[in-house]
Amino acid sequence: MSRLFATARTSARRAGLGLRAGLPAGLPAGARSSSSSWSRGGSKRSALALAAGVASPVLYFLTRDTIELDTSVPPQGKNVSVADVVKRRDGDEVWVVIDGEVYDMTKFLQDHPGGPDIIVANRSRDVTPLFKPRHPSDQLFPGHLPAEVKHLGPLAPASSDELEAIKLEISAEQLAEDERVLTERKKMDERGLGVIVNMKDFEKFAEPLLSKVAWAYYASAGDDEITKLANASAYQKVLFRPRVLRRVEQCDASTELMGSPSSLPIFIAPAAMAKLGHPLGEINLTRGAGSTGIIQGISSNASCSMDEMLAEREPGQPLFYQLYVNRDRAKAEELVRKIDAGKFNAIMLTADAPVGGKRERDIRLKGEFEGPAGGVAVKSKDTAGVAQAMFAGVDPNLSWDDVAWLKSLTNIPVMIKGVQTVEDALLAYEAGCDGIVISNHGGRQLDTTRPALDVLLEIRRLAPHLLRPEFRTPTGPSPDSLAEPARLTPKDRPDGAGMPRRFEIFIDGGVSRGTEVVKALCLGVNGVGIGRGFLYAQSVAGEEGVEHAVDIMKAEIELAMRLLGATRIADLRPCMVEVVGEAPRPA
Ligand code: HEM
Ligand SMILES: Cc1cc2nc3c(=O)[nH]c(=O)nc-3n(C[C@H](O)[C@H](O)[C@H](O)COP(=O)(O)O)c2cc1C
Repeated sequence: MSRLFATARTSARRAGLGLRAGLPAGLPAGARSSSSSWSRGGSKRSALALAAGVASPVLYFLTRDTIELDTSVPPQGKNVSVADVVKRRDGDEVWVVIDGEVYDMTKFLQDHPGGPDIIVANRSRDVTPLFKPRHPSDQLFPGHLPAEVKHLGPLAPASSDELEAIKLEISAEQLAEDERVLTERKKMDERGLGVIVNMKDFEKFAEPLLSKVAWAYYASAGDDEITKLANASAYQKVLFRPRVLRRVEQCDASTELMGSPSSLPIFIAPAAMAKLGHPLGEINLTRGAGSTGIIQGISSNASCSMDEMLAEREPGQPLFYQLYVNRDRAKAEELVRKIDAGKFNAIMLTADAPVGGKRERDIRLKGEFEGPAGGVAVKSKDTAGVAQAMFAGVDPNLSWDDVAWLKSLTNIPVMIKGVQTVEDALLAYEAGCDGIVISNHGGRQLDTTRPALDVLLEIRRLAPHLLRPEFRTPTGPSPDSLAEPARLTPKDRPDGAGMPRRFEIFIDGGVSRGTEVVKALCLGVNGVGIGRGFLYAQSVAGEEGVEHAVDIMKAEIELAMRLLGATRIADLRPCMVEVVGEAPRPA
């Protein structure tokens, strides 16, 4: 079960990079040995002390110029002179240069999900630095290029003076920011990943090396960010009831999520725009998930294309796809067919974002805030934030009826992501879904909703039949555990009908510790998603950052399990935790 998907290619790549050499001794040798623990053999040196002397695994700088994917588009049209491009600075036609190719954007302006202004403001310029961090590398390939965009041809050879005329105008502020990002990345490179000993450290080290736009987009949440904060503290009200003297040397935290093997009970929650944090973006996540054996949830708004990520998939590597349904159902169907053809292992239909939340950090960076005209995500005429651009095509009229439509198009298991009440959990079950992801989108949508954990507790209280039978008992000591205290895990005692069919419950939001993952599992979830943590990890150190994050989580999960007395995921039960303030069990 603890199968990894690493192939010779991955191993060679990693060996070539000297990756493992850079791991702090204070952390386990990785997700590879199921008996590893950072409190065992050779682990006494502090991660900080070690970092100073270790060759850095952070390769961003060394490879910055070489890791770009091949984005050369097939030849098209005749050479276009710089003078011709500059001429379009006035008049109706809007041309731009990207990677040495000239494009006529005139007919696409109003359809651009990022709004027309950003393109108009930079017309007749080489917009490559603006374009690349936000769009898939194959966006300009035939078949991916929107029909409204005309590829005119290559920019004719020109002198540096001529090229100056089409250079992107970069403000002094922007230049200072680029300088800051560069310096901070160098510092990180020198420090090495040894300084990062828990998931929160990734956030701490990511902030200074991200652009302001990237930081605002990743860190932001709705309104006053109250739900985001509540997510992070919620697990403190669940306390462990550890058992002792249980032979815990061997520990295996591998499991299955939606029928797919996973080396750990965690998955990468789908989050958009990974390229804002690192040039390879989501590819880092696909590779890191593949080599460590966890499952990546791929966002509909990923900054790498589906094809790019599928090309990085290890043989047999499970992937989940997060679906936003386009208001144009033909486009939506086309996407579902691609998901089907891509043999994804589950679809997460995101339901908590019919319109984008009001993420103020994001909005402030773009200047003027303009309320959404018509009340829902109409085509944004402004760029009021990266987030707002994202929701331009999403159908705000999606309803429970559409679940049947989706299921009629594919046999891939479907989960509803963003369930926040027991009522909707029941509806998802009745609609024939294969599972739910309890989530408030990391607090990025409706602010002051309850933390995701509270929704799980509500489901446990009011609709326990949605949980696997062995998780329906209240927390705390159960009659079974008292009758047979030597048996760590009370016998399965399906009350009522059991589970007539598969219905898996996942949760995400605010999870940064192995203890939190284990608590959620004791309460009956199948798997736990982590969003920002992996975005920050890949921002700090690309693929190695993702692997390092998985190593950290593996060590923490296994440590928590061992100290709890459990050595397999199947051992975990509600009697191993207690929820502060939960009504006492009936006598
Ligand atoms: C081939 C033509 C283009 C396509 C198909 C395209 C597509 C998109 C899409 C789908 C988004 C939404 C976010 C996402 O999911 O990635 C977006 C955002 C964005 N695009 Fe484009 N784009 C194109 C050209 C351009 C050009 C030429 C520029 C620069 C002048 C540009 C600048 C941006 C920016 C800055 C955003 C983020 C929105 C914001 O920050 O407010 N795009 N684009
Ligand atoms: C920057 C960012 C982008 C996100 N993009 C998406 C998305 O495209 N689709 C989606 O369903 N959820 C998206 N999410 C929500 C995550 O899937 C997940 O629910 C959330 O991040 C979990 O909270 P955490 O970040 O505290 O772990 C995004 C979250 C972040 C932080």
